[in-house]
Amino acid sequence: MSLVFPKWTNSIPAAIVVSAGFAGVAVIAGGWYYMTPDYTEVGYEPEQPVNYSHRIHVNTLGMDCRYCHTNVEESGFSNIPDTATCMNCHTGDPAQDIAYLNSTLWSAHKQNENLVKVREAYASGEPIRWRRVHKVPDYAHFNHSVHVNAGVSCYSCHGSINEQAVVRQEKSLAMGWCLDCHRNPEDHLVRVSDTDPDLPKITDLDAIKRLLQSDEQKARGLELAAELRIEPPQSCGACHY
Ligand code: HEC
Ligand code: HEC
Ligand code: HEC
Ligand code: HEC
Ligand code: HEC
Repeated sequence: MSLVFPKWTNSIPAAIVVSAGFAGVAVIAGGWYYMTPDYTEVGYEPEQPVNYSHRIHVNTLGMDCRYCHTNVEESGFSNIPDTATCMNCHTGDPAQDIAYLNSTLWSAHKQNENLVKVREAYASGEPIRWRRVHKVPDYAHFNHSVHVNAGVSCYSCHGSINEQAVVRQEKSLAMGWCLDCHRNPEDHLVRVSDTDPDLPKITDLDAIKRLLQSDEQKARGLELAAELRIEPPQSCGACHY
């Protein structure tokens, strides 16, 4: 495979695409736009309308990513939860929230300005306008469920989001980044299960981080790739169509 598609093609010039015959002009125009830091820079960490913290909800409270990002295993697009999901715990009514918040915490939280915003948004029916952090240009196709179901964890592509108080882009999301993994997927494949207590869930980011950093990862990943016949595509048409 690597001979067909050697490493230098990571930086393949846009001009080649024109001769390859796929919407070259749009690609170049799109390239300019999306090369702007908002979309490609590692470290992009926009201020959000509500200070929602993954660290509190995932690490402190132990919530699974899929409680909120319900689509991630079924669909190409991983949804952002609507305000109704937040209202499972943040109505401000102690009779309803008490299951999650002990009474002292709850009274402090009733006044929390961010939670006031959440309740106001819910009451008005106006969605909270979260600012998008991760984005690949429209001319490249990315599908979440394919990756997650192949045993690639959120950790490989989003880093330790469970430790972040504000979401931050950890990886470049550039074409070379996609291809680095497509050439050597074994570095990122993990055996996961929601039911087997000996295996981590795909969303157990800390456990998966430890597995990926261990010396046995390569051998384990190769075994899994062979068993599940995992062969990520490297041809242009797989991602650009
Ligand atoms: C309680 C609900 C909730 C849980 C649980 C949750 N998230 Fe989120 N997530 C959100 C909300 C709300 C946003 C949008 C606001 C923001 O970016 O902070 C978001 C944003 C994100 C984004 C950035 C989306 C973008 O704009 O590019 C990623 C990536 C993400 N979450 C991954 C995860 C992962 C991985 C986990 C599990 C470790 C997780 N989330 C758990 C609610 C949740
Ligand atoms: C399963 C229950 C649950 C859900 C669902 C939930 N939260 Fe929370 N949230 C909590 C609890 C419990 C705390 C208090 C944690 C603490 O202070 O230790 C909290 C705290 C917060 C805080 C206050 C953090 C601070 O500064 O102290 C904000 C803001 C918040 N949540 C926003 C959201 C948003 C936005 C959503 C929906 C995307 C959401 N929560 C969904 C349980 C939940
Ligand atoms: C193989 C890499 C990869 C994996 C694995 C991955 N993501 Fe993503 N994620 C991305 C990319 C790339 C984007 C930008 C997608 C786009 O612009 O279409 C993204 C975007 C998102 C978004 C923003 C909405 C969207 O779909 O564009 C959320 C939320 C998210 N990811 C959550 C998760 C969660 C939760 C997991 C684990 C269950 C996960 N991701 C696993 C690469 C990945
Ligand atoms: C960390 C590893 C990793 C990264 C990063 C990654 N992929 Fe993948 N990709 C995989 C694996 C594993 C498969 C599954 C291959 C299989 O099942 O045979 C896959 C499959 C695919 C497929 C074929 C399935 C489909 O959706 O039709 C496409 C297209 C794809 N990836 C696009 C992308 C794009 C675009 C990016 C970058 C934005 C990306 N991938 C980043 C590992 C990765
Ligand atoms: C695994 C998925 C994948 C494959 C395979 C792939 N690309 Fe890409 N390509 C991407 C992604 C993702 C981007 C967007 C990168 C960014 O945001 O800068 C991209 C961007 C581009 C760009 C715009 C470059 C720029 O700097 O703006 C060109 C041109 C391009 N690809 C050509 C190709 C050609 C030619 C092939 C085949 C030899 C190919 N791609 C194969 C995922 C892929």
